[in-house]
Amino acid sequence: MMRTRPLKVALLGCGVVGSEVARIMTTHADDLAARIGAPVELAGVAVRRPDRVREGIDPALVTTDAQALAKRADIDVVIEVIGGIEPARTLITTAFENGASVVTANKALLAEDGSTLHEAAEKHGADLFYEAAVAAAIPLVRPLRESLAGDKVNRVLGIVNGTTNFILDRMDTNGAGYGEALDEATALGYAEADPTADVEGFDAAAKAAILAGIAFHTRVRLDDVHREGLTEVTAADIASARRMGCTVKLLAICERAADGRSVTARVHPAMIPLSHPLANVREAYNAVFVESDAAGQLMFYGPGAGGAPTASAVLGDLVAACRNKLNGARGPGESAYAQLPVSPMGDVVTRYHISLDVADKPGVLAQVATVFAEHGVSIDTVRQQGKDGDAWLVVVTHRAADAALSATVEALRKLDTVRGVASIMRVEGE
Ligand code: HSE
Repeated sequence: MMRTRPLKVALLGCGVVGSEVARIMTTHADDLAARIGAPVELAGVAVRRPDRVREGIDPALVTTDAQALAKRADIDVVIEVIGGIEPARTLITTAFENGASVVTANKALLAEDGSTLHEAAEKHGADLFYEAAVAAAIPLVRPLRESLAGDKVNRVLGIVNGTTNFILDRMDTNGAGYGEALDEATALGYAEADPTADVEGFDAAAKAAILAGIAFHTRVRLDDVHREGLTEVTAADIASARRMGCTVKLLAICERAADGRSVTARVHPAMIPLSHPLANVREAYNAVFVESDAAGQLMFYGPGAGGAPTASAVLGDLVAACRNKLNGARGPGESAYAQLPVSPMGDVVTRYHISLDVADKPGVLAQVATVFAEHGVSIDTVRQQGKDGDAWLVVVTHRAADAALSATVEALRKLDTVRGVASIMRVEGE
């Protein structure tokens, strides 16, 4: 039986994502009603610039007073697609206080202060859903929160930023430098005018914090995530990766330690073998591997950005929140019972590719090898290429702790025969 009284939705923000949400709510209204069991009505749209024409949206619904809209007692679900920390946090907590459930795409806020939102949702018996905050249309949050709730996730590894994947893909396929590839990403609308959040890895780190928190039932904040962007990646790094049968990707990696007592979360460029499925994730696509005890290895792939793909995730959450409202039920709340400590980057164990500019004379290789040995870092392969009395020495290590590798590099820099450390890159996915 379809309920005739509609569920009322407030939309906070009507930019690239919000306008797509409104469009789909209108065009799919009958299907949404049938799936939910009641019609859903857009009851208000909060915007910053009211004078802008918004096709398909009744101007009478538009307001600049987002706080008043979030406070309305008749609103069942608030969709927050404004982004940023404030006023989004205050608006979301206001919505909970007034009895609404919340659907948000706000990765920055969830990674910075997710606990405040979760606690407010808990206190008021409401839903807080955020599938769109991580990799847009790709279902990741719900599979981790619900489908894998009976399993034990050990690792989440993936490409969660489309802009940087586009840049690295262009550098790999065209031999373009970082600046040239960034310019192309900007011209095509992938990179924003200020690309800092993407290229410095903040966006991916926020997503890593959210994924690690859900995967390991532990609160993980943005500050807990080790972050390196891709601005230092050079065409020479990419060429070096190619010679090793690898490509370079900006990866988000969340891992449970081997003893199960702690976790780590990190974002950095890394080499991965061309045979690895992540190496074939091209352009602005995202892909994430989840490894768990019982399920084994799962891969999630698709468009991780853009108005319509992000709106798809928002709408899925909206349907879930509306169904719960109708049934007087709640979806899963925060699960942080494990409270595992988040270890620093120095504890991460992985492999490294190090490129050194050295003098080409007797004993240099032995000196370099000794430094690795003294720090307990085992060498897997060494390749040398001469260049006018100097040489490039490319060392690939076996698995070692990041702290041991940093100490090794520090010591290598002090050798007279080492003119410079040209690049250090982690090797993942083997
Ligand atoms: N700017 C992000 C990306 C999408 O390039 O993937 C939003 O998180």
